[in-house]
Amino acid sequence: MALGSLAAACGGGGSSPSNVPQLTTVNGTVSGGTVQVQIDSSSPLATVGGAVMVRASSGAFLVARTAQESFSALTTICTHETCTITGFDNTNFVCPCHGSRFSPTGRVVNGPANAPLRSFATSFSNNVLTISV
Ligand code: FES
Repeated sequence: MALGSLAAACGGGGSSPSNVPQLTTVNGTVSGGTVQVQIDSSSPLATVGGAVMVRASSGAFLVARTAQESFSALTTICTHETCTITGFDNTNFVCPCHGSRFSPTGRVVNGPANAPLRSFATSFSNNVLTISV
């Protein structure tokens, strides 16, 4: 009986991802109750499916372009144990601590997290993305 191999196959609650591409960081500008991000042709957000981490003086956000005129803006704080999410792999945001994966709109794709990421309203006009915080 190969009971030892069964025990060895159990990873025990998620593992740290390796070789996950890291998000590009772009700067946002705080304006009133919003954060604004200029999206030029060199930004990863110039293409549908692209994603970045937006840093502003009021905080950071995960941002993905979900369609030509649609973006999602999410908290960077993982709902598992509050690590900062920094990876983006195969259209999913990836937490570096235990490998939870979230869709571009913040749904859990893989645990151990089991709650979605908080999201913020966005609007887009004249190549400027506005995040309402
Ligand atoms: S803190 Fe555990 S997966 Fe993010």
